Amino acid sequence: MNLILLGPPGSGKGTQARELERRHGFVKLSTGDMLRTTVLDSKKIGKQLKEIIDSGALVPDNIMVKMISERIKYPDCKKGFILDGFPRTTAQADALEKMLKKKGMQLDYVIEMKVNSKILIKRISGRYSCAVCGTGYNDDFQKPVKKGVCDNCDSREFVRRSDDKLGTFRLRLEAYEEQTAPLLPYYRKRKCLKTVNALNKIENVTAEIEAVIGGA
Ligand code: AP5
Ligand code: MG
Repeated sequence: MNLILLGPPGSGKGTQARELERRHGFVKLSTGDMLRTTVLDSKKIGKQLKEIIDSGALVPDNIMVKMISERIKYPDCKKGFILDGFPRTTAQADALEKMLKKKGMQLDYVIEMKVNSKILIKRISGRYSCAVCGTGYNDDFQKPVKKGVCDNCDSREFVRRSDDKLGTFRLRLEAYEEQTAPLLPYYRKRKCLKTVNALNKIENVTAEIEAVIGGA
């Protein structure tokens, strides 16, 4: 099963992709996570990428397409993948279509994570994650069972994203509306778009996605 989770910043793409990976073993391909790893690992290109990410703008299409086309070649993607944060422009969607066709792979569903912008600010401002294993949390909606201790790896170190500041978040939202939202009619036309109500509780959103993919 090959899926795309499509939605604005804070709609819950990463949260749901992690859960689907845990439940089904699909590989989570999160371009945001890949970029943040590159920022930490590579001094030269990392600095340029960090500047773009912290400005709330999108990273150029050629860099993103290369990143995904190289990753999708790995054998683990054969058991199914979830794209979280890619494609984000029509040029990226066209490139993905070509790349999958070449490999004899197909897209099963594009899942629109529908929300309203008011809730997003609360989700983004409250978000943090484990510095060791990356498990995501939220000050209001998703607290660790034991305060200050990661549920998954017992670490006590947590981090917040530098692009989660209110000003940057607003620009990320604008980038979504202008450059990514046009992908909704793009995939509707291809008859693979399904919409879930991502305003619901995390577990209810997961249940809606499961209903779409048919408990694969
Ligand atoms: P990326 O990391 O992809 O960020 P994003 O799309 O802005 O989305 P977020 O990660 O902020 O939100 P999410 O939908 O994953 O929500 P989450 O599950 O964390 O990209 C970052 C940057 O990298 C971009 O701005 C761009 O510069 C660059 N980039 C990445 N991909 C690119 C591409 N393809 N092309 C060009 N540039 C690219 O949830 C948010 C919070 O809400 C969490 O705290 C969570 O616990 C909570 N939450 C989740 N669901 C619920 C719920 N149902 N109820 C209550 N709380 C919830
Ligand atoms: Mg995310």
